[in-house]
Amino acid sequence: MKVLKTISEYRAWHLQLPKKANLGLVPTMGNLHLGHQSLIEASLQNNEFTVVTLFVNQIQFNSSLDFEKYPRTLDADLELCQSLGVDVVFTPEHHELYPKGHSTYCEVQNLDNYLCGLSRPGHFQGVCTIVLKLFNITKPTTAYFGQKDFQQVRIIEQLVLDLNLEITISRELIIREASGLAMSSRNLRLTEKERENSASLFKALSKAKLAYTNNERESEKLSQIVKEHLNLTSNDKIEYITIASQQSLQPLMEKINEPVVLAIAVYYGKVRLIDNIILE
Ligand code: PAJ
Repeated sequence: MKVLKTISEYRAWHLQLPKKANLGLVPTMGNLHLGHQSLIEASLQNNEFTVVTLFVNQIQFNSSLDFEKYPRTLDADLELCQSLGVDVVFTPEHHELYPKGHSTYCEVQNLDNYLCGLSRPGHFQGVCTIVLKLFNITKPTTAYFGQKDFQQVRIIEQLVLDLNLEITISRELIIREASGLAMSSRNLRLTEKERENSASLFKALSKAKLAYTNNERESEKLSQIVKEHLNLTSNDKIEYITIASQQSLQPLMEKINEPVVLAIAVYYGKVRLIDNIILE
């Protein structure tokens, strides 16, 4: 496995690949867990070469404290990538991707007006900018994203479509802990009590899905079911419970008559968790 830190090193490696080789890209911010691992495994299974990027992208963070506190576990991440059989880990420094004078940003409009976009202004612009840069640098045939960040993968799909990029976006299922809690780097920051209570996120989403399967189509009623099944203390706070069009991400306020995602963001203490379930 090669660990490359500069764009020129990467380009030199890419130049010697067979012309028609399939190259899978898994963009991450590191602190790899089983969720990331499933993306890497999907790429390894379907491509001759797999590149994982480890880069904590400062411009997508809303608070500098959050950026500084983001867990960095380079040695363990490299060990995992090596053991899985990854070909290249690209792990540039900030100044390699954002040198002095960098002034170009990429924004997908409308799709960021909902869900997480409401409380995180500029976040998806930061994500789109880095993902487009990583696409241009690494030149993948397929890039792998988790459905855990439903809005993110939907926005990236639109970016690829709108800018006519020749890249397939592959969506991968949410990987969960035994309790049902979706794997996330943030889970490490939960107290024991918060961890216990946050397992109710998936249980609550599943209850709503069961009601949907039993033909409940009222958006408000399904959201109510989620609310009723969440375990929250007075320190915790719901940011949103939203039923949104899978296509436009626009909330459906009344009857559900198209494929939707039931998405949720909750603060357990200071830790913001997101999760979702598909209703279709
Ligand atoms: P990061 O949070 O490291 O996530 C990298 C990828 O792993 C994303 O596509 C995310 O959806 C996926 N992922 C995270 N938890 C998952 C889980 N429990 N199951 C399945 N997939 C999961 O998302 C980012 O980084 C950044 O925004 C990035 C795209 C790298 C741009 O900086």
